[in-house]
Amino acid sequence: MRHIPNLKDLTAAELESILAKAAEIKANTQDFKYLLQGESLAMIFQKTSTRTRVSFEVAMTELGGHGIYIDWDTSNFVLSGIEYETEYLSRNVSCIMARLLHHSDLIKIIAGSQVPVINGCCERFHPCQALTDVLTMSEYRDISSTHLVYVGVQNNVSNSLSILCDKLGLKLTLATPEVSDDDESSDSDVQKIINSSSWVSHTTDPTDAVQSADFVYTDTWIDMQYFNDPAHEKEKQAKLEQMMPYQINKELLKGLSCKIMHDMPIHDGYEITPDMVCDPRAIIFQQAENRLHAQKGLLWWVYQQAGHFS
Ligand code: CP
Repeated sequence: MRHIPNLKDLTAAELESILAKAAEIKANTQDFKYLLQGESLAMIFQKTSTRTRVSFEVAMTELGGHGIYIDWDTSNFVLSGIEYETEYLSRNVSCIMARLLHHSDLIKIIAGSQVPVINGCCERFHPCQALTDVLTMSEYRDISSTHLVYVGVQNNVSNSLSILCDKLGLKLTLATPEVSDDDESSDSDVQKIINSSSWVSHTTDPTDAVQSADFVYTDTWIDMQYFNDPAHEKEKQAKLEQMMPYQINKELLKGLSCKIMHDMPIHDGYEITPDMVCDPRAIIFQQAENRLHAQKGLLWWVYQQAGHFS
């Protein structure tokens, strides 16, 4: 049984097959409306979400199955061991998707599960987002001749993009401040990729990096659970001050023809200015829509691996 805690264990061919199937299902939605008939996906949320929840739930509906939203705080995950609750779940559903605060808890869910588990975003990885992003770029260009410049903070999204771009041979430049090993999103395998991959590199200079970009991508500077937390206000202000040179704005992208990407939710005036969200170069909403299509490709692969169809 194959789980998706990150994208590290998948081969380039497997990743390409997920992306190709996502594009195929997007173009021929009606042909797949019974693919997951009778199947149920448990969707566990410890953190807030708009796109991950909606895209997985709609994907299950459009593939003939059913997505069950489970709010962590009103479930008995808060009262019992993660493994026990997960083992129960996996006897009633055929797949689990979990958005958790800590990757270590996702590993516990995988340990307790008799069915495949998909990471719906934790502090270290966001594999579903990275698949969506490459699917989106592939709608414009051959990814083997694409340069993606990620401007902002190194986090779960940039980690998953680094893993995926390294495997697929897509040139990625991370234009971010230096990171420390004790950052909560830090991952030693990702650091090795950044240090040694011929496809992934790092710079602290966003202005220089975007000059040759086909796509410029940004994400929130502050993890979602801290953004509106009063206890995090001091760290938030320090982070915002440090990050302003990395803002996607008119000046940074002046004269460039690159597409503008953002995985959403958008924090207007922080990582991106409102005019850049509406700019003709922006493909942010197409990217967000593609969460649905990428999810379908991933669900197809996971269920196929679990022997539900050939
Ligand atoms: N990009 C993303 O994961 O969106 P949500 O947090 O709304 O699910």
